[in-house]
Amino acid sequence: MARSDTVYVCQACGSTHPKWAGRCDDCGEWNTLVEEAAPAPLGTQASAPKRRGRAARLDLVDLGAETPETPRLISGITELDRVCGGGLVPGSAILVGGDPGIGKSTLLLQLMARIASQDTRAIYISGEEAIDQVRRRAKRLGLAQAPVALAAETSLNDILDGLKSEGPDIVVIDSIQTLWSDQLAAAPGTVAQVRACAQELVRFAKKRNCTVILVGHVTKDGQIAGPRVVEHMVDAVLYFEGERSHQFRILRAVKNRFGPTDEIGVFEMGDMGLAEVANPSSLFLDGRGEANPGAAVFAGMEGTRPVLSEIQALVAPAAFGTPRRAVVGWDSGRLAMVLAVLEARCGFNISNRDIFLNVAGGLKITEPAADLAVAAAIVSSAMDVALPAKGVVYGEISLSGDVRPVGRSDSRLKEAAKLGFTEAIAPQAAADEKAPIRVRGVATALDLVQTLKALAGE
Ligand code: TYD
Ligand code: MG
Repeated sequence: MARSDTVYVCQACGSTHPKWAGRCDDCGEWNTLVEEAAPAPLGTQASAPKRRGRAARLDLVDLGAETPETPRLISGITELDRVCGGGLVPGSAILVGGDPGIGKSTLLLQLMARIASQDTRAIYISGEEAIDQVRRRAKRLGLAQAPVALAAETSLNDILDGLKSEGPDIVVIDSIQTLWSDQLAAAPGTVAQVRACAQELVRFAKKRNCTVILVGHVTKDGQIAGPRVVEHMVDAVLYFEGERSHQFRILRAVKNRFGPTDEIGVFEMGDMGLAEVANPSSLFLDGRGEANPGAAVFAGMEGTRPVLSEIQALVAPAAFGTPRRAVVGWDSGRLAMVLAVLEARCGFNISNRDIFLNVAGGLKITEPAADLAVAAAIVSSAMDVALPAKGVVYGEISLSGDVRPVGRSDSRLKEAAKLGFTEAIAPQAAADEKAPIRVRGVATALDLVQTLKALAGE
Protein backbone atom coordinates (compact mmCIF):
# COMPACT_ATOMS: atom_id res chain seq x y z
CA MET A 1 0.00 0.00 0.00
CA ALA A 2 1.29 3.44 -0.80
CA ARG A 3 2.50 5.33 2.23
CA SER A 4 0.61 8.49 2.93
CA ASP A 5 2.97 11.45 3.16
CA THR A 6 1.02 13.47 5.67
CA VAL A 7 0.17 12.72 9.28
CA TYR A 8 -1.96 14.52 11.81
CA VAL A 9 -0.13 15.61 14.92
CA CYS A 10 -1.91 16.55 18.13
CA GLN A 11 -0.71 19.99 19.23
CA ALA A 12 -1.49 19.19 22.84
CA CYS A 13 0.27 15.87 23.39
CA GLY A 14 2.40 15.39 20.28
CA SER A 15 0.91 12.02 19.26
CA THR A 16 0.53 11.28 15.55
CA HIS A 17 -2.55 9.94 13.80
CA PRO A 18 -2.93 8.70 10.23
CA LYS A 19 -6.34 10.35 9.86
CA TRP A 20 -7.89 13.61 10.94
CA ALA A 21 -10.35 13.48 13.81
CA GLY A 22 -12.07 16.09 15.92
CA ARG A 23 -10.65 14.66 19.08
CA CYS A 24 -7.21 13.25 19.88
CA ASP A 25 -7.54 9.60 20.99
CA ASP A 26 -4.46 9.86 23.18
CA CYS A 27 -5.12 12.90 25.32
CA GLY A 28 -8.80 13.55 24.65
CA GLU A 29 -8.29 17.19 23.58
CA TRP A 30 -10.63 18.57 20.92
CA ASN A 31 -9.57 20.30 17.75
CA THR A 32 -5.85 19.85 18.23
CA LEU A 33 -4.90 17.72 15.19
CA VAL A 34 -2.87 19.57 12.57
CA GLU A 35 -1.72 18.19 9.26
CA GLU A 36 2.05 17.85 8.89
CA ALA A 37 4.45 16.17 6.49
CA ALA A 38 5.17 12.62 7.61
CA PRO A 39 8.75 12.02 8.72
CA ALA A 40 10.76 9.63 6.55
CA PRO A 41 10.64 6.07 7.92
CA LEU A 42 13.59 5.09 10.07
CA GLY A 43 16.67 3.95 8.22
CA THR A 44 15.83 5.64 4.93
CA GLN A 45 17.12 9.12 5.78
CA ALA A 46 19.96 10.23 3.56
CA SER A 47 22.19 10.73 6.54
CA ALA A 48 21.58 7.30 8.10
CA PRO A 49 25.08 5.92 8.59
CA LYS A 50 25.77 2.55 7.03
CA ARG A 51 27.59 0.22 9.36
CA ARG A 52 29.09 -2.76 7.62
CA GLY A 53 32.00 -4.96 8.44
CA ARG A 54 33.28 -3.60 11.74
CA ALA A 55 30.96 -4.33 14.64
CA ALA A 56 29.79 -1.26 16.52
CA ARG A 57 31.52 -0.81 19.83
CA LEU A 58 30.11 0.68 22.96
CA ASP A 59 32.59 2.71 25.00
CA LEU A 60 32.11 1.80 28.62
CA VAL A 61 33.64 3.86 31.43
CA ASP A 62 33.72 3.64 35.22
CA LEU A 63 30.96 5.33 37.16
CA GLY A 64 33.43 6.55 39.75
CA ALA A 65 35.94 8.10 37.35
CA GLU A 66 36.82 11.74 38.04
CA THR A 67 35.14 14.35 35.84
CA PRO A 68 36.51 17.87 35.90
CA GLU A 69 33.82 20.09 37.39
CA THR A 70 33.29 23.19 35.25
CA PRO A 71 32.42 26.19 37.37
CA ARG A 72 28.83 27.39 37.06
CA LEU A 73 27.96 30.74 35.58
CA ILE A 74 26.92 32.85 38.54
CA SER A 75 24.74 35.70 37.34
CA GLY A 76 24.68 37.63 40.58
CA ILE A 77 20.86 37.67 40.49
CA THR A 78 20.65 35.60 43.67
CA GLU A 79 16.99 34.63 43.31
CA LEU A 80 17.64 33.19 39.85
CA ASP A 81 20.93 31.51 40.75
CA ARG A 82 19.27 29.74 43.66
CA VAL A 83 16.39 28.43 41.54
CA CYS A 84 18.94 27.00 39.09
CA GLY A 85 20.67 25.18 41.94
CA GLY A 86 23.54 27.64 42.44
CA GLY A 87 24.15 29.21 39.06
CA LEU A 88 23.78 28.10 35.45
CA VAL A 89 25.56 24.94 34.37
CA PRO A 90 27.69 25.42 31.23
CA GLY A 91 26.38 23.31 28.36
CA SER A 92 22.93 22.93 29.87
CA ALA A 93 19.63 23.63 28.13
CA ILE A 94 17.03 25.52 30.12
CA LEU A 95 13.41 26.15 29.20
CA VAL A 96 11.77 29.23 30.70
CA GLY A 97 7.98 29.18 30.41
CA GLY A 98 5.33 31.68 31.37
CA ASP A 99 2.25 33.58 30.28
CA PRO A 100 2.74 36.29 27.67
CA GLY A 101 3.64 39.62 29.26
CA ILE A 102 4.69 38.14 32.58
CA GLY A 103 8.29 39.37 32.18
CA LYS A 104 10.31 36.53 30.63
CA SER A 105 12.08 38.75 28.12
CA THR A 106 12.79 41.34 30.80
CA LEU A 107 14.23 38.76 33.20
CA LEU A 108 16.42 37.17 30.54
CA LEU A 109 17.69 40.50 29.24
CA GLN A 110 18.66 41.45 32.77
CA LEU A 111 20.31 38.05 33.22
CA MET A 112 22.29 38.36 29.99
CA ALA A 113 23.45 41.86 30.87
CA ARG A 114 24.76 40.63 34.21
CA ILE A 115 26.52 37.65 32.68
CA ALA A 116 27.96 39.57 29.75
CA SER A 117 29.59 42.06 32.08
CA GLN A 118 31.67 39.19 33.50
CA ASP A 119 33.65 38.80 30.28
CA THR A 120 31.40 36.04 29.04
CA ARG A 121 30.19 36.01 25.45
CA ALA A 122 26.40 36.36 25.67
CA ILE A 123 24.01 36.40 22.72
CA TYR A 124 20.33 37.32 22.84
CA ILE A 125 18.30 36.19 19.84
CA SER A 126 14.84 37.65 19.57
CA GLY A 127 12.34 36.08 17.23
CA GLU A 128 9.42 38.10 18.54
CA GLU A 129 10.64 41.64 18.86
CA ALA A 130 12.61 43.81 16.49
CA ILE A 131 16.10 44.96 17.43
CA ASP A 132 14.78 48.45 18.17
CA GLN A 133 12.24 47.15 20.64
CA VAL A 134 14.83 45.15 22.54
CA ARG A 135 17.20 48.13 22.54
CA ARG A 136 14.50 50.40 23.86
CA ARG A 137 13.75 48.01 26.67
CA ALA A 138 17.45 47.74 27.49
CA LYS A 139 17.70 51.51 27.66
CA ARG A 140 14.75 51.71 30.00
CA LEU A 141 16.33 49.09 32.23
CA GLY A 142 19.62 51.01 32.25
CA LEU A 143 21.38 48.12 30.51
CA ALA A 144 22.15 49.77 27.17
CA GLN A 145 25.89 49.65 27.84
CA ALA A 146 26.00 45.93 28.63
CA PRO A 147 28.07 43.96 26.08
CA VAL A 148 25.23 41.67 25.02
CA ALA A 149 25.23 40.74 21.33
CA LEU A 150 21.76 41.01 19.82
CA ALA A 151 20.09 39.46 16.78
CA ALA A 152 16.56 39.27 15.43
CA GLU A 153 16.27 35.96 13.62
CA THR A 154 13.84 33.08 13.31
CA SER A 155 15.52 30.69 10.91
CA LEU A 156 17.05 27.83 12.87
CA ASN A 157 19.72 27.16 10.29
CA ASP A 158 20.91 30.76 10.22
CA ILE A 159 20.93 30.84 14.01
CA LEU A 160 22.96 27.65 14.31
CA ASP A 161 25.44 28.75 11.64
CA GLY A 162 25.87 32.08 13.38
CA LEU A 163 26.28 30.54 16.80
CA LYS A 164 28.85 28.04 15.55
CA SER A 165 31.06 30.80 14.22
CA GLU A 166 30.54 33.13 17.20
CA GLY A 167 31.18 30.49 19.87
CA PRO A 168 29.14 32.09 22.69
CA ASP A 169 29.07 30.88 26.32
CA ILE A 170 25.39 31.57 26.75
CA VAL A 171 22.49 32.13 24.34
CA VAL A 172 18.88 33.15 24.88
CA ILE A 173 16.33 32.17 22.24
CA ASP A 174 13.17 34.26 22.65
CA SER A 175 11.04 32.30 21.83
CA ILE A 176 11.16 28.69 20.67
CA GLN A 177 7.68 29.04 19.12
CA THR A 178 8.90 31.56 16.57
CA LEU A 179 11.72 29.41 15.17
CA TRP A 180 11.40 27.37 12.02
CA SER A 181 13.60 24.79 10.41
CA ASP A 182 13.59 24.47 6.62
CA GLN A 183 13.81 20.68 7.00
CA LEU A 184 10.13 20.62 7.85
CA ALA A 185 7.07 21.77 5.98
CA ALA A 186 5.10 22.49 9.15
CA ALA A 187 4.43 26.08 10.25
CA PRO A 188 6.43 27.71 13.09
CA GLY A 189 4.93 27.02 16.48
CA THR A 190 3.58 23.57 15.59
CA VAL A 191 4.70 20.63 17.65
CA ALA A 192 6.90 19.28 14.86
CA GLN A 193 8.77 22.58 14.42
CA VAL A 194 9.14 23.28 18.12
CA ARG A 195 10.40 19.76 18.71
CA ALA A 196 12.87 19.82 15.84
CA CYS A 197 14.24 23.27 16.71
CA ALA A 198 14.55 22.46 20.41
CA GLN A 199 16.34 19.22 19.60
CA GLU A 200 18.92 20.95 17.41
CA LEU A 201 19.53 23.67 19.98
CA VAL A 202 19.90 21.18 22.83
CA ARG A 203 22.40 19.25 20.74
CA PHE A 204 24.30 22.47 20.08
CA ALA A 205 24.37 23.23 23.83
CA LYS A 206 25.91 19.87 24.69
CA LYS A 207 28.36 19.81 21.83
CA ARG A 208 29.72 23.34 22.21
CA ASN A 209 29.36 23.54 25.99
CA CYS A 210 27.19 26.61 25.61
CA THR A 211 24.29 27.30 27.96
CA VAL A 212 21.10 27.63 25.90
CA ILE A 213 18.03 29.26 27.39
CA LEU A 214 14.80 28.72 25.47
CA VAL A 215 11.76 30.85 26.11
CA GLY A 216 8.44 29.03 25.74
CA HIS A 217 4.90 30.35 25.82
CA VAL A 218 2.34 28.75 27.98
CA THR A 219 -1.06 27.71 26.64
CA LYS A 220 -4.23 28.62 28.45
CA ASP A 221 -4.19 25.39 30.45
CA GLY A 222 -0.67 26.01 31.74
CA GLN A 223 1.46 23.84 29.47
CA ILE A 224 4.41 25.15 27.55
CA ALA A 225 3.04 25.09 24.02
CA GLY A 226 4.52 22.52 21.76
CA PRO A 227 4.33 20.86 24.83
CA ARG A 228 5.79 18.15 27.01
CA VAL A 229 8.16 17.08 24.24
CA VAL A 230 10.46 20.03 24.94
CA GLU A 231 10.32 19.57 28.69
CA HIS A 232 11.80 16.09 28.31
CA MET A 233 14.67 17.31 26.17
CA VAL A 234 16.03 20.10 28.34
CA ASP A 235 17.97 19.89 31.60
CA ALA A 236 15.87 22.36 33.52
CA VAL A 237 12.37 23.78 33.20
CA LEU A 238 11.64 27.04 34.98
CA TYR A 239 8.21 28.65 35.15
CA PHE A 240 7.84 32.36 35.57
CA GLU A 241 4.46 33.06 37.06
CA GLY A 242 2.44 35.63 38.92
CA GLU A 243 -0.78 37.56 38.75
CA ARG A 244 -0.64 40.29 36.15
CA SER A 245 -2.45 42.58 38.58
CA HIS A 246 0.18 42.09 41.27
CA GLN A 247 3.68 43.45 41.14
CA PHE A 248 5.54 40.35 42.10
CA ARG A 249 6.59 37.37 40.03
CA ILE A 250 7.75 33.94 41.07
CA LEU A 251 10.35 31.87 39.28
CA ARG A 252 9.87 28.20 40.02
CA ALA A 253 11.87 25.16 38.91
CA VAL A 254 9.64 22.26 37.89
CA LYS A 255 12.49 20.14 36.61
CA ASN A 256 16.19 20.50 37.27
CA ARG A 257 18.89 17.96 36.56
CA PHE A 258 21.41 20.05 38.47
CA GLY A 259 19.56 21.16 41.55
CA PRO A 260 16.43 20.99 43.68
CA THR A 261 12.99 21.66 42.22
CA ASP A 262 11.31 23.17 45.23
CA GLU A 263 13.13 26.50 45.29
CA ILE A 264 11.41 29.71 44.25
CA GLY A 265 12.83 33.07 43.30
CA VAL A 266 10.72 36.11 44.04
CA PHE A 267 10.90 39.28 41.97
CA GLU A 268 9.04 42.54 41.90
CA MET A 269 8.22 44.21 38.57
CA GLY A 270 8.84 47.91 38.68
CA ASP A 271 9.79 50.81 36.41
CA MET A 272 13.35 49.54 36.25
CA GLY A 273 12.45 45.96 35.41
CA LEU A 274 12.56 43.09 37.84
CA ALA A 275 14.02 43.64 41.29
CA GLU A 276 14.87 40.78 43.61
CA VAL A 277 12.81 40.33 46.74
CA ALA A 278 15.07 38.97 49.43
CA ASN A 279 12.40 38.70 52.10
CA PRO A 280 9.19 37.45 50.46
CA SER A 281 7.29 36.99 53.72
CA SER A 282 7.14 40.70 54.33
CA LEU A 283 5.86 41.14 50.76
CA PHE A 284 3.09 38.54 51.09
CA LEU A 285 2.01 39.86 54.47
CA ASP A 286 2.13 43.46 53.33
CA GLY A 287 -1.11 45.32 53.97
CA ARG A 288 -2.30 42.87 56.61
CA GLY A 289 -4.33 44.83 59.10
CA GLU A 290 -6.02 43.86 62.34
CA ALA A 291 -6.75 40.21 63.05
CA ASN A 292 -10.00 39.33 61.30
CA PRO A 293 -12.07 36.19 61.55
CA GLY A 294 -11.19 33.94 58.62
CA ALA A 295 -7.56 34.98 58.22
CA ALA A 296 -4.69 32.68 59.20
CA VAL A 297 -0.99 33.28 58.66
CA PHE A 298 0.58 30.13 57.27
CA ALA A 299 4.23 29.48 58.05
CA GLY A 300 5.23 27.63 54.89
CA MET A 301 8.42 26.49 53.23
CA GLU A 302 9.36 27.13 49.62
CA GLY A 303 12.39 24.92 49.09
CA THR A 304 14.94 25.81 51.71
CA ARG A 305 13.33 29.13 52.51
CA PRO A 306 10.51 29.80 54.95
CA VAL A 307 7.77 31.98 53.47
CA LEU A 308 4.86 33.34 55.47
CA SER A 309 1.58 34.07 53.72
CA GLU A 310 -1.98 34.81 54.68
CA ILE A 311 -4.77 32.33 54.00
CA GLN A 312 -8.24 33.84 53.95
CA ALA A 313 -11.49 31.91 54.21
CA LEU A 314 -15.07 33.04 54.02
CA VAL A 315 -17.85 30.74 55.13
CA ALA A 316 -21.20 32.17 54.10
CA PRO A 317 -24.76 30.89 53.89
CA ALA A 318 -25.37 29.23 50.52
CA ALA A 319 -27.54 31.36 48.29
CA PHE A 320 -28.91 28.65 46.04
CA GLY A 321 -29.06 24.85 46.00
CA THR A 322 -25.55 23.44 45.82
CA PRO A 323 -23.09 25.34 47.99
CA ARG A 324 -20.12 26.90 46.20
CA ARG A 325 -16.49 26.09 46.80
CA ALA A 326 -14.01 28.47 45.24
CA VAL A 327 -10.26 28.27 45.81
CA VAL A 328 -7.47 30.58 44.69
CA GLY A 329 -3.85 29.57 45.33
CA TRP A 330 -4.49 26.12 46.78
CA ASP A 331 -5.66 22.70 45.64
CA SER A 332 -9.45 22.32 45.60
CA GLY A 333 -9.19 18.56 46.18
CA ARG A 334 -7.20 19.20 49.32
CA LEU A 335 -9.83 21.72 50.46
CA ALA A 336 -12.56 19.09 50.03
CA MET A 337 -10.50 16.77 52.22
CA VAL A 338 -10.04 19.31 55.00
CA LEU A 339 -13.78 20.12 54.90
CA ALA A 340 -14.65 16.41 55.11
CA VAL A 341 -12.36 15.98 58.13
CA LEU A 342 -13.91 19.01 59.85
CA GLU A 343 -17.38 17.55 59.24
CA ALA A 344 -16.68 13.96 60.14
CA ARG A 345 -14.16 14.31 62.98
CA CYS A 346 -15.12 17.61 64.58
CA GLY A 347 -18.88 17.63 64.04
CA PHE A 348 -18.52 20.90 62.24
CA ASN A 349 -21.56 21.42 60.04
CA ILE A 350 -20.50 23.35 56.94
CA SER A 351 -21.63 21.15 54.08
CA ASN A 352 -24.52 23.47 53.26
CA ARG A 353 -22.50 26.68 53.29
CA ASP A 354 -20.58 28.49 50.57
CA ILE A 355 -16.82 28.39 51.18
CA PHE A 356 -14.28 30.67 49.55
CA LEU A 357 -10.56 30.28 50.12
CA ASN A 358 -7.85 32.64 48.97
CA VAL A 359 -4.10 32.80 49.43
CA ALA A 360 -3.40 36.53 49.68
CA GLY A 361 -1.00 38.12 47.24
CA GLY A 362 -1.39 35.51 44.49
CA LEU A 363 1.01 32.92 45.91
CA LYS A 364 0.31 29.28 45.04
CA ILE A 365 0.75 26.90 47.95
CA THR A 366 1.33 23.19 47.36
CA GLU A 367 2.52 22.03 50.78
CA PRO A 368 0.30 19.68 52.82
CA ALA A 369 1.52 21.64 55.85
CA ALA A 370 -1.03 24.30 54.88
CA ASP A 371 -3.90 21.95 55.90
CA LEU A 372 -4.01 23.21 59.47
CA ALA A 373 -3.82 26.85 58.40
CA VAL A 374 -6.70 26.31 55.96
CA ALA A 375 -8.73 24.52 58.62
CA ALA A 376 -7.98 27.32 61.10
CA ALA A 377 -9.10 29.98 58.61
CA ILE A 378 -12.34 28.11 57.86
CA VAL A 379 -13.18 27.39 61.50
CA SER A 380 -12.28 30.97 62.41
CA SER A 381 -14.63 32.34 59.75
CA ALA A 382 -17.45 29.91 60.59
CA MET A 383 -17.25 30.68 64.32
CA ASP A 384 -16.55 34.37 63.73
CA VAL A 385 -13.55 34.24 66.04
CA ALA A 386 -10.26 35.83 65.03
CA LEU A 387 -7.05 33.86 65.36
CA PRO A 388 -4.30 35.46 67.46
CA ALA A 389 -3.12 38.57 65.57
CA LYS A 390 0.52 37.68 66.18
CA GLY A 391 0.16 33.97 65.52
CA VAL A 392 1.11 31.61 62.69
CA VAL A 393 -0.36 28.19 61.86
CA TYR A 394 1.05 25.09 60.15
CA GLY A 395 0.57 21.30 60.24
CA GLU A 396 -0.68 18.46 58.08
CA ILE A 397 -4.11 16.94 58.75
CA SER A 398 -4.69 13.26 58.09
CA LEU A 399 -8.05 11.72 57.20
CA SER A 400 -8.37 10.41 60.74
CA GLY A 401 -8.32 14.01 61.94
CA ASP A 402 -4.84 13.74 63.50
CA VAL A 403 -2.47 16.64 63.05
CA ARG A 404 0.84 15.28 61.82
CA PRO A 405 4.24 16.85 62.28
CA VAL A 406 5.82 18.52 59.24
CA GLY A 407 9.44 19.10 58.24
CA ARG A 408 11.56 22.11 59.14
CA SER A 409 9.49 23.21 62.07
CA ASP A 410 12.46 25.17 63.38
CA SER A 411 12.91 27.32 60.29
CA ARG A 412 9.19 28.11 60.22
CA LEU A 413 9.14 29.23 63.84
CA LYS A 414 12.35 31.23 63.47
CA GLU A 415 11.02 33.08 60.43
CA ALA A 416 7.79 33.82 62.33
CA ALA A 417 9.78 35.15 65.30
CA LYS A 418 11.90 37.27 62.95
CA LEU A 419 8.78 38.92 61.54
CA GLY A 420 7.42 39.75 64.98
CA PHE A 421 5.00 36.86 65.52
CA THR A 422 4.78 35.66 69.10
CA GLU A 423 2.87 32.40 68.93
CA ALA A 424 2.08 29.43 66.73
CA ILE A 425 -0.64 26.82 66.40
CA ALA A 426 1.32 23.78 65.28
CA PRO A 427 1.61 19.99 65.59
CA GLN A 428 2.25 18.74 69.12
CA ALA A 429 5.82 17.76 68.21
CA ALA A 430 6.75 21.42 67.69
CA ALA A 431 5.67 22.36 71.20
CA ASP A 432 9.17 22.39 72.57
CA GLU A 433 10.54 24.54 75.35
CA LYS A 434 13.37 25.67 73.16
CA ALA A 435 10.99 27.00 70.47
CA PRO A 436 11.67 30.67 69.68
CA ILE A 437 7.98 31.57 70.14
CA ARG A 438 5.12 30.13 72.18
CA VAL A 439 3.61 27.06 70.50
CA ARG A 440 0.05 25.86 71.14
CA GLY A 441 0.40 22.21 70.18
CA VAL A 442 -2.68 20.58 68.63
CA ALA A 443 -2.89 16.79 68.29
CA THR A 444 -6.12 16.60 66.29
CA ALA A 445 -8.35 18.82 64.20
CA LEU A 446 -10.80 18.73 67.10
CA ASP A 447 -8.09 20.29 69.31
CA LEU A 448 -7.92 23.14 66.83
CA VAL A 449 -11.67 23.75 67.13
CA GLN A 450 -11.33 23.64 70.91
CA THR A 451 -8.41 26.08 70.82
CA LEU A 452 -10.55 28.50 68.84
CA LYS A 453 -13.44 28.08 71.27
CA ALA A 454 -11.05 28.91 74.08
CA LEU A 455 -9.89 32.00 72.17
CA ALA A 456 -13.50 33.09 71.80
CA GLY A 457 -13.87 32.94 75.56
CA GLU A 458 -10.65 34.88 76.23
P1 TYD B 1 8.04 41.08 28.91
O1 TYD B 1 9.38 40.81 29.49
O2 TYD B 1 7.97 41.62 27.54
O3 TYD B 1 7.12 39.78 29.02
P2 TYD B 1 7.19 38.40 28.21
O4 TYD B 1 8.50 38.34 27.51
O5 TYD B 1 7.03 37.35 29.28
O6 TYD B 1 6.03 38.39 27.28
O7 TYD B 1 7.31 42.03 29.96
C1 TYD B 1 6.30 42.82 29.56
C2 TYD B 1 5.59 43.46 30.72
O8 TYD B 1 6.45 43.92 31.74
C3 TYD B 1 4.85 44.63 30.20
O9 TYD B 1 3.49 44.47 30.54
C4 TYD B 1 5.45 45.83 30.85
C5 TYD B 1 6.16 45.27 32.04
N1 TYD B 1 7.41 45.98 32.35
C6 TYD B 1 7.47 46.81 33.46
O10 TYD B 1 6.51 46.96 34.20
N2 TYD B 1 8.67 47.45 33.76
C7 TYD B 1 9.77 47.32 32.98
O11 TYD B 1 10.81 47.91 33.28
C8 TYD B 1 9.68 46.46 31.83
C9 TYD B 1 10.85 46.27 30.92
C10 TYD B 1 8.50 45.81 31.55
MG1 MG C 1 8.82 38.33 25.45
